[in-house]
Amino acid sequence: MRRYLVNQALDKLHTQHYDVVIAGGGLSGLYAALLLDEKYTVALLVKEDLMRCNSSLAQGGIAAAVAEDDSPDIHFRDTMRAGAGMADANAVKLLTEKGPDHINRLAAMGVAFDTDGKGNWLTTCEGAHRKKRILHCGGDATGRVIMETLVERIAEKTNVDIYEHHFLTDILTDPNHRTAGVVAFSEEYKVFMAPRVIIATGGAGQVYPHTTNDKVTTGDGIAAAIRAGAETANMEFVQFHPTAFYNPESKDSLFLVSEAVRGEGAVLRNDRGEVFMEKRHRLKDLAPRDIVAREIFKQMELSGREHVWLDITSRDEAWLRKRFPNIYNYCEKYGIMPHKDFIPVVPAQHYLMGGIQTNLEGKSSLPGLYACGEAACTGVHGANRLASNSLLECVVFASRVVQSIHQGGVLLNDEIAFEPHVLTGTLANGKELKSRLKKMMQTHGGIVRNPQGLVHGIGVMNEILALTDAANLVGKEEFELVNMATVAREILLAALTERESAGSHYLDEEPEEIINVSW
Ligand code: SIN
Repeated sequence: MRRYLVNQALDKLHTQHYDVVIAGGGLSGLYAALLLDEKYTVALLVKEDLMRCNSSLAQGGIAAAVAEDDSPDIHFRDTMRAGAGMADANAVKLLTEKGPDHINRLAAMGVAFDTDGKGNWLTTCEGAHRKKRILHCGGDATGRVIMETLVERIAEKTNVDIYEHHFLTDILTDPNHRTAGVVAFSEEYKVFMAPRVIIATGGAGQVYPHTTNDKVTTGDGIAAAIRAGAETANMEFVQFHPTAFYNPESKDSLFLVSEAVRGEGAVLRNDRGEVFMEKRHRLKDLAPRDIVAREIFKQMELSGREHVWLDITSRDEAWLRKRFPNIYNYCEKYGIMPHKDFIPVVPAQHYLMGGIQTNLEGKSSLPGLYACGEAACTGVHGANRLASNSLLECVVFASRVVQSIHQGGVLLNDEIAFEPHVLTGTLANGKELKSRLKKMMQTHGGIVRNPQGLVHGIGVMNEILALTDAANLVGKEEFELVNMATVAREILLAALTERESAGSHYLDEEPEEIINVSW
């Protein structure tokens, strides 16, 4: 596999020096930038613009034990249970104990969580939560409201330079294999030297054809970290959200119908109009996501239809329009009036539980490289993330990264070990390769997997990477293809190594012996 996407000698490139580079401007990157002491100079690199990220799309909310009848301990137990026993208990303890503090901090930054008439925060329920602990903003616009508020706050910081439309291509290392900075592409390559780099670039939903993730989520930070030699973990655990709006016209991403809709009483129905979660789990439609997604998949196979139905007709129009304004409007645009019509829904890739392996301070295996948010794997989600723990993870673990950087003080690192990957070949069929990659992931890396399919998928990713390795890459689309194939291959390899089904990783046939495959 190639070490770099950049194909030019670095000494000719525009170079700047910072104390910290943050790649990714979603909630975790932005929060880290806000918390970093003003004595650090910070470059915040964003692939498109600041609002263009998965955090902005988050609907349901942010989970934290703020209600009187709740406690971090109950939140801890719900998270561990949803994670199919595979979550890291120390990470979960940190998440659930620190959660309420960070909610207060967000509120102090100006985030307007929805309240009742008396100013008390409203909380709702989602899958596998035993208590109402999901705070929300603007009804179903939690991510957008939080992001808009923090974007306002970041503009007030004098130590943070924001570089929108800068694509992270590479993480640079020094001769001792320490982080030395990054290369980004914005019409031309640029070098950002820094001894501390935080990867907060989010997940990789775009490796699947059906995802709720934004088009920008092509695993760029995870792939750059892999190329630089950082370890990943739990890559086989990919979460499928049970209820994306079924819309064959949608291109890069499917619209999410929040789990909070089921939290407010919606039930799933099959093509005959029958409820089907009752017999499957004691929490019925609010069972953990992996279980609901698999059951929907089974119902679709049984009926031969491409979706099931979500029924929220128990609520009236005025209530629905107020509580879920965006979801209501989207459904209406496609001729569905949720107070009287069932909503067609289908599972879609939603979240990557794996990522760059980090400790509880967000440190990766590569000195000087940190990760937080969906790009990271602290182990906090185990094999299946509990609903609305992702925004919470962003703030809790971004703050841990910042604490660790503060403790380390200001460092200098000016050396780079770099051999350019200069090639002359071109990549003729990038678009076709991307669509082949996505189909492979749908067929072999999806909700139900089997060893033979995984081996086949790995072979295809190897073929794509061999083609891209031989090419002089030009521009974003081609960088994305390499990153997607790198991450997709990592998911399939991890899935093949994990021989037993757990949480979101489900094998319909467990291998009797380890399959040897050349990689
Ligand atoms: C949702 O609103 O259903 C998504 C929440 C999440 O992914 O945690």
